[in-house]
Amino acid sequence: MSRVIGIDLGTTNCCVAVLDGGQPTVIANRQGYKTTPSIVAIAEDGGRMVGQVAARQAITNPQHTVFAAKRLIGRPFDSPQVQHALTTMPYRIVAGPSDDVRIELRGKAYSVPEISAMLLQEMRVVAEEHLTERVERAVVTVPAYFNDAQRQAVKDAGRIAGLDVLRILNEPTAAALAYGFGRGEEKRVVVYDLGGGTFDVSIVHVGGDGVFRVLATTGDSFLGGEDFDDRVMAWLIRGFEVQEGIDLRESPIALQRLKQAAQKAKCDLSQVDEAEVQLPFIVSTSPKGPLHMHYSISRGQLEKLTEDLVDRTLDICMHALELARLEATDVDEVVLVGGMTRMPRVQQAVEELFGRRASRNVHPDEVVALGAAIQGAALATEIDEVALEDVTAHSLGIATAGDGYEVIVPASTRVPCRVPSLFTTSRDEQETLRIVVLQGESGVASENELLQDFALVGLRRAPAGDVEVEVEFEIDADGIFRAGAKDLETGEQARVQVLGRSAFEPGELERAAAESAAWLEERRAEEAHEGLRQGLQALLVEVERAAREVEQWRADDPDAVDTVIAVRHAHEAAGRALAADERRALAEHLVVLEDAKEMLDAMLRESTGARR
Ligand SMILES: Nc1ncnc2c1ncn2[C@@H]1O[C@H](COP(=O)(O)OP(=O)(O)OP(=O)(O)O)[C@@H](O)[C@H]1O
Ligand SMILES: [Mg+2]
Repeated sequence: MSRVIGIDLGTTNCCVAVLDGGQPTVIANRQGYKTTPSIVAIAEDGGRMVGQVAARQAITNPQHTVFAAKRLIGRPFDSPQVQHALTTMPYRIVAGPSDDVRIELRGKAYSVPEISAMLLQEMRVVAEEHLTERVERAVVTVPAYFNDAQRQAVKDAGRIAGLDVLRILNEPTAAALAYGFGRGEEKRVVVYDLGGGTFDVSIVHVGGDGVFRVLATTGDSFLGGEDFDDRVMAWLIRGFEVQEGIDLRESPIALQRLKQAAQKAKCDLSQVDEAEVQLPFIVSTSPKGPLHMHYSISRGQLEKLTEDLVDRTLDICMHALELARLEATDVDEVVLVGGMTRMPRVQQAVEELFGRRASRNVHPDEVVALGAAIQGAALATEIDEVALEDVTAHSLGIATAGDGYEVIVPASTRVPCRVPSLFTTSRDEQETLRIVVLQGESGVASENELLQDFALVGLRRAPAGDVEVEVEFEIDADGIFRAGAKDLETGEQARVQVLGRSAFEPGELERAAAESAAWLEERRAEEAHEGLRQGLQALLVEVERAAREVEQWRADDPDAVDTVIAVRHAHEAAGRALAADERRALAEHLVVLEDAKEMLDAMLRESTGARR
């Protein structure tokens, strides 16, 4: 069985890890970085770019470069978050066939899971190159606060990427796992994870015996570094508008440059008190000629612009304590995760709230992927010393008459779980019974997220009230919902028919998966081709050198002279094949030259032996 990798599919950065000799280890990408930007771009010729390569060309290709796609995953097009993204993202977001989100790149509309699949695929290739073996299985992390639709969409992304996703794991749980793994200490740990797009907080009981029990988890799946960047960006745009009377939001290139400059200033301000924002030619033509931006921003200003965001995270921490029925002082350790926790104000605020210094023992960018790798190994039964007990972040319930909402599985319930609930027919001969499942905390049905609309069909014909159906509401270990039902009297399974359309049209997911697999095959073939090319090139140099040495040392040996002549012929032919660049021919010449090299080396060894 192949190894299971752990992938942290972040809003801003992705990270992949694997258990190596019993130790979780992050795998660096080809450029040597341990994280890869979550950026995907399509070039003019249709070629796909992912990670650093995509990041580097973002400014010149803003409309076809997608970042922070995780903010859109599993959300309906008309949700406030997507509507907000419409005004801040330089790429084109359009409505999909079932009110889902599509991103238009070079005339093709991609679903968000397709974009995420490209990132998963990239991380898989990073792992495969390091392990020099095929990787088919993964544990992928999601924010604990992700709802059912978002989890489902990440699973779909895994399917498109051709990965068997063994588990969808909550990011803060993964972080706690990596924190406590092999430590053998019993502690109550708070994980505060402020990343690029989402905020999660979990309180985890880490048992010395390898049992990790999540006591409470909550968060906000639309609160993260992106919002901090947006604040700085809005400040720059406002300043420019006041000064020059020009709205920079109208230019995608200006937006993309502002976005990067805002983020850079924000990060700089974690180290220094004052940062410069310099964007020459931010407007290339105006009645006044080209215009440049040159502002400076202080740490204090940044803190003021983002004060309410930090406060929101603190409120959520308090809520988590409430859910766990704990006081801030009951916490033994504070673990900071996510790049945004490098901001001094964030650290200070969290440390004040919990009255203790945060742990400096984990790497905020890598700890989630490490935890995913540990869970992956545990699921693959490579290790057996960890057990996870996670909980749901959202309540799950059903719509009742008059826009009411009845909770069936309350938030903080241990998952996986199965909760039965009884439904009775209300009309004579009633054959179907419709159930609308929602997720959320509001007492008003329409304020919660629609999870599934289904009907129990083909019920036994009987007078009103005579048919009692037990519906089982199941949340699996991935945090994904499923319903099952049976007639209580006959014990027969009732048929559950899911109403409403899925985000994908029939066959679309399979088509995307096939396209993705074809892309991977092509990439592997290209890489193999490149490997051959480089191998042959290096060999040509070595063979030439060896041939010259043989000529020098064995000039009086006719056999050696003949061999060198033959080798030179082979060398020339290989050189021609390299120029023609035909894959099969390259492979054949590589074998011939390897033999030639061996022959020459043997001769040289003989002559050195003779000289001794
Ligand atoms: N030195 C720094 N100071 C302030 N912010 C930083 C610093 N370094 C990185 N960040 C911010 O951290 C965020 C990225 O964090 P991280 O890589 O943990 O997010 P992610 O895992 O991709 O996102 P998420 O977990 O929300 O899906 C970005 O907004 C980035 O600007
Ligand atoms: Mg993260």
